[in-house]
Amino acid sequence: MRLFVSLWLLLSIALFAQEAKKGPNPFENPKNLKLLQPANARQAMQAFRAALGVQCVYCHVQGDFASDDNPKKNVARMMITMARQINMNFPDGKQHVTCFTCHRGAEEPLIEAPATAEAPKEAPK
Ligand code: HEC
Ligand code: HEC
Repeated sequence: MRLFVSLWLLLSIALFAQEAKKGPNPFENPKNLKLLQPANARQAMQAFRAALGVQCVYCHVQGDFASDDNPKKNVARMMITMARQINMNFPDGKQHVTCFTCHRGAEEPLIEAPATAEAPKEAPK
């Protein structure tokens, strides 16, 4: 039984080492953050992806997260600044508005209610 446990331990260490070799963690040494804190970057990226319903390469050049060559990345920076300004203008200064508040899983937020939305029923007379 003890042998089995140590074998299992060795195997999991080996698997872990292999996992770590897959490539450098892009969030470990960010080179081009102008607005976000390195500690929050990973969480922010997951939130962006979900808020717009896109993959990472929607804003990033494949294989180079630090590059600014994808123009969507700078649009996203402007959006970060805009969302911060909106939040600062709330009476309590708390964060009420996020990317998701407007985007709701879409690249381009809707400005008007969709045509299929049901009109309010007329009040009975
Ligand atoms: C809506 C656009 C958008 C999406 C989607 C997005 N990112 Fe980003 N990402 C940015 C922006 C903007 C920055 C720079 C933020 C700054 O300047 O503080 C950035 C920065 C980064 C950085 C730091 C790079 C460096 O060296 O400075 C990494 C790593 C990163 N993103 C990974 C990801 C991953 C992984 C995903 C998918 C889960 C993702 N991003 C999805 C917009 C996006
Ligand atoms: C107050 C509402 C609002 C908030 C908050 C907001 N956005 Fe946007 N965003 C928009 C609108 C509206 C557009 C479309 C504008 C246009 O077409 O020029 C847009 C467009 C974009 C685009 C370009 C999409 C395209 O089709 O090219 C990106 C990328 C983006 N937003 C990222 C973000 C991110 C990331 C956040 C959160 C940090 C965010 N947005 C927060 C309203 C918002």
